Amino acid sequence: MSDPPKPDMSSPDNLTEQLAQAGLDNDAALVLRNRTAPGKVDLKLTPDPVKHLGIVGCGLMGCSIAALAVGQNISITMVDVAPTALSAARETFADEDRVTVTDQYDLLSSADLIIEAVVETLPVKKTVHERIESVAASGAIIASNTSSIPLVSMEKHFRSPERFCGIHFCHPEVMSLVEVISGPGTSAQTTANAVGFVRQLEKMPVAIGDGAGFVVNRLLSAMLNQSLRLLSQGVAVADIDAAMRKFGFKAGPFEIIDIIGADTCMYAGRTMWEHKLECVSLSPILPRLVKHGRLGRKTGVGFYKYPDPRGEALVDPELQPLLDPYQQTFALGVESADGGKKNDLDLARQILVPVVLEATRVIDQGIVNDFRDVDLAFTHGLSFPRQRGGLLYWADQVGVAELTKMLDQRSVADPALKPTALLVSMSCRGQSFYSVS
Ligand code: NAI
Repeated sequence: MSDPPKPDMSSPDNLTEQLAQAGLDNDAALVLRNRTAPGKVDLKLTPDPVKHLGIVGCGLMGCSIAALAVGQNISITMVDVAPTALSAARETFADEDRVTVTDQYDLLSSADLIIEAVVETLPVKKTVHERIESVAASGAIIASNTSSIPLVSMEKHFRSPERFCGIHFCHPEVMSLVEVISGPGTSAQTTANAVGFVRQLEKMPVAIGDGAGFVVNRLLSAMLNQSLRLLSQGVAVADIDAAMRKFGFKAGPFEIIDIIGADTCMYAGRTMWEHKLECVSLSPILPRLVKHGRLGRKTGVGFYKYPDPRGEALVDPELQPLLDPYQQTFALGVESADGGKKNDLDLARQILVPVVLEATRVIDQGIVNDFRDVDLAFTHGLSFPRQRGGLLYWADQVGVAELTKMLDQRSVADPALKPTALLVSMSCRGQSFYSVS
């Protein structure tokens, strides 16, 4: 792949527009590339189409996945054990003949693919995986929609781990990207079938290797971690969200937590911390919100309040007393380079530079085949602004040397921000990500 188009610096009047167009062009090139290079999958294998989909867990994600499959001529059997979840799913799909909602696992026996989408804790998933495998047809694939738990921890639940993989939908109503994760035991045909299924749903698969948080949630965690740090240093929730929106995100970090659910973010963050990911430190703020039932949109209140669950996020004065014990005054480490008050771009950089650092760890650990899959995943799985071209494309514009210097300075106070060997070597050689390819 040749270098992405660069703006013409000789005409600064429309530089912003040119940069945005160059970013959009880079993103379009990444999407096009994905059609023939969707990552770690053997393209010589022909995927078997899915005619009957099983989904276990009729919560937020189970219902979103079912809604996608409904439009694709696929029969769907949805299983849950909670009467409230069952009746809500029955109501949602009342007009769909192809959807069966049940508490009977046996009805999954004719499914070609069964996706588990139950709560993000290993013990619950273990019970569910064993029940699924006890009823699944011998050729069926079993997938987890886990956001963070590495497959290596789950494949031991299976007698036939070769048929198990991860299919991680990132908010399918708005995001087109789906991560297809192969664990150590996943067969090549299982991965090929999962990639084919994602395409059957008209979504964009990126096939990747195993590791806590995979790609999208690992980078998201790095972003949320920095946002929670700034919050604990006294920066307001609304100011952080406004800075990230101004940078181009569709929602700020705290709005994102409210969409995902503070409980799910807390469990996922804990899993990644337990797996020693340096980008995550345990903040007391999320458990505090969870303890007070402030889970986000699903409970009508989180970092914001939502009189209408799908409506606008409103500032909630009742939040501040909960944050008070954990907030210092606006101080440590948040001064801008010139010593003045931070502006929105400073805040966005403060949050995103550690995300670039985490991306280099993902690349180093071989989770992706190619650094461009990181950019594709972060833009189409988490709404990094398309006009910025991709996280690493943006990093090139900041400059790898500049970014490495910033991390070096910040690592004095926070050793987890020490630049990786990849960044240091690129910086010494004057390289950029897109010139390396
Ligand atoms: P949820 O809490 O909305 O739904 C979980 C459902 O699982 C509930 O309806 C519950 O009754 C059901 N369940 C629990 N134990 C069960 C059992 N033994 N048998 C059958 N059903 C059982 O959770 P959500 O948000 O849908 O998350 C599900 C999975 O998807 C988790 O692994 C989560 O990490 C992942 N995920 C969540 C995303 C999000 O934004 N919420 C995004 C991407 C992935």
